[in-house]
Amino acid sequence: MADGGKLSPFELRYRSLDKIIEKYGDRPGGLIRVLQKAQDLFGYLSREVQIYVADKMCLPIAHVHGVATFYSGFVTAPRGKYTCSICMGTACYVKGAQDVLDRFKKVLGIGEDETTEDRLFTLRATRCIGACSLAPVLAVNEDVHGHVTVDEVAPLIESYRAQETREDGDRIADEPDRPRADQGAAPPPY
Ligand code: FES
Repeated sequence: MADGGKLSPFELRYRSLDKIIEKYGDRPGGLIRVLQKAQDLFGYLSREVQIYVADKMCLPIAHVHGVATFYSGFVTAPRGKYTCSICMGTACYVKGAQDVLDRFKKVLGIGEDETTEDRLFTLRATRCIGACSLAPVLAVNEDVHGHVTVDEVAPLIESYRAQETREDGDRIADEPDRPRADQGAAPPPY
């Protein structure tokens, strides 16, 4: 428990998970609901979280792990801020989705289900996402991009990087105690 008897944010997440387990643990399909909530709370289903769920629900860890790795909606490793999901369904595949995926791998320098070192991008190949008329299709988090060509991949990634840089700039500007160049901050000691 955190200092002063207060629960840490991490402990609070486990408390929330306990409530979901209490509510759905005995219901049909309860494990799926519990794992969905666990993923919402922790960002992904780590080994520790899977063991915790198995323990609390009196299930074999192999069963929980099997469910966590079977459904494409679950992730068992930390994700980047932006998840790039390339549709590899039939319509997208015949329109060049493999080339688009390969270009993502090349530009990001990672493979499928991997995350860039700066934790900005995770790359995934997915099944049909229901926008076949726009094939080839990909999604970056909730943003769907259709008729994507390989040449558009690098600029697309760059646009998300630029967005990140802008958000970082805004955060720094909003920090009241941080000296800014236009406020006559002291020069560095060199
Ligand atoms: S096959 Fe890609 S959106 Fe349907």
